[in-house]
Amino acid sequence: MQLFIDTAEIEEIRSLNITGLIDGVTTNPSLIAKSGRNIISTIEEICNVVSGPVSAEVTATDFDNMILEGKKLSSIAQNVAIKVPITFDGLRACKAFSDEGIMVNVTLCFSAAQALLAAKAGATFISPFIGRLDDIGADGMNLISEITEIYDIHGFDTKVLAASIRSVQDIIDSAKLGANVATVPPKFLKSMYNHPLTDKGLSDFLSDWKKTGQSIL
Ligand code: G3P
Repeated sequence: MQLFIDTAEIEEIRSLNITGLIDGVTTNPSLIAKSGRNIISTIEEICNVVSGPVSAEVTATDFDNMILEGKKLSSIAQNVAIKVPITFDGLRACKAFSDEGIMVNVTLCFSAAQALLAAKAGATFISPFIGRLDDIGADGMNLISEITEIYDIHGFDTKVLAASIRSVQDIIDSAKLGANVATVPPKFLKSMYNHPLTDKGLSDFLSDWKKTGQSIL
């Protein structure tokens, strides 16, 4: 399973990318707004740091302007994936970009029917927002399960990108259900490696080691 980070904060991306564990980045208009920075220079900087797909979202809602915005974002770097909302015009734009060989991330997916159309439109990624479904009392993980089943049965290449992650367990559950990617807020990525028993075990090892008086180097 691939792990993307869901942020537009370049310093956070830099600090996590040195692990070699980051396969890509997702941004959206809210994350760009939160960063307080210009979208073009931000996406450019992220693409200089991360070689995997970097999702940059159009803000136009009509087909013609989605195409213009998407082309501008796509010209920033080869690894930009154009993010379009799953609307009628968004699906048209998805098909047009994918016909040109441009990666597309179809976002704001809340149903299996939407995911089916995105795959037919040639989406590289479909982004089911599991946390936002859970927020309204629906079952986000069930949506992941439905999409992976449909894509498997029909052999679609579109990758399932679990988004709107609310916990480490969401990442694990998505992985078990066959999501290809989870896009993870930085704080959850850190929580993935932290465990109190790891800390305690390491502390015990180091204390026993000190008693030996040895040094490996
Ligand atoms: O990539 C967008 C998605 O992850 C949004 O998450 O937390 O705003 O629902 P959230």
